Amino acid sequence: MPVLGLGVWQLASGRETEQAVEWALDAGYRLIDTASLYRNEASVGAALKRSDVPREQVFVTTKLMPTHPSAARELAKSLKRLELDYVDLYLIHWPVPLVSARYWRQLESLRAQGLARAIGVSNYGRDHLQAMARSGAATPAVDQVQFSPFRFRRRLLDYCLEHGIVFEAYSPLERGRAVSDPTVVQVAERIERSPAQVLLRWAIQHQAVVIPKSSREDRIRSNARVFDFELGDDDMRQLDRLDRTNGTASARGG
Ligand SMILES: NC(=O)c1ccc[n+]([C@@H]2O[C@H](COP(=O)([O-])OP(=O)(O)OC[C@H]3O[C@@H](n4cnc5c(N)ncnc54)[C@H](OP(=O)(O)O)[C@@H]3O)[C@@H](O)[C@H]2O)c1
Repeated sequence: MPVLGLGVWQLASGRETEQAVEWALDAGYRLIDTASLYRNEASVGAALKRSDVPREQVFVTTKLMPTHPSAARELAKSLKRLELDYVDLYLIHWPVPLVSARYWRQLESLRAQGLARAIGVSNYGRDHLQAMARSGAATPAVDQVQFSPFRFRRRLLDYCLEHGIVFEAYSPLERGRAVSDPTVVQVAERIERSPAQVLLRWAIQHQAVVIPKSSREDRIRSNARVFDFELGDDDMRQLDRLDRTNGTASARGG
């Protein structure tokens, strides 16, 4: 799974999403994160189809809204909109008490059929993951959760890394708010990088996959330039200390 992807929540379907995906593929992104909830799967599919990048080189994630009875029907609709035969990753968008286990069995069957190469969860805390493990369910490949220096979910991160679950960070820029934080700006100025690059690099150095969203070509390109520098231990520690959650945050948006 690529370490960097483009998130497309809140990109309008049509030109805005298509362009963002085109710019991202051109800038070297090989992961696109969408969801049926975002209502832009068809635009992601159109951009992928037009691209010169072969399908098998792009990691496409979409998500099941756990409000419909049949995951099979929902994935079939997503695949149709995306104009794809399979997705690389299918996530349960958020946990729903009591019914999540049923969805998970459905996702296991979709994976067995090759319609989803991998299956995972989103917005699951450690308790949810532990309950899944106790029930004997297959370990999810990925847990996608909100993660940034301000929501440094250490215990969940450690649990995922220990159990071989890829930890995927959504809203890694805190929906744009974190780029103006004085500590982040100070680190960025010192190492001559953008605040967004610092935030993405911080998450990557904690072994997270990051999926920043932008509608702007310049930002899509600059957000991808995070593999030619490293944050030193002091900078990492300074950013770690921005945590406002005592390691236990939980929140959900898109
Ligand atoms: N599983 C879930 O429940 C869930 C929830 C939320 C998000 N997600 C996924 O995670 C992705 C990313 O999260 P997000 O969209 O919430 O927030 P984000 O990536 O943390 O931040 C996006 C915001 O930051 C701005 N931005 C991007 N690059 C910037 C830069 N270099 N400098 C300054 N501002 C910049 C964007 O504005 P412009 O567009 O104007 O550049 C946008 O307003 C989503 O798109 C979605 O795929 C998943």
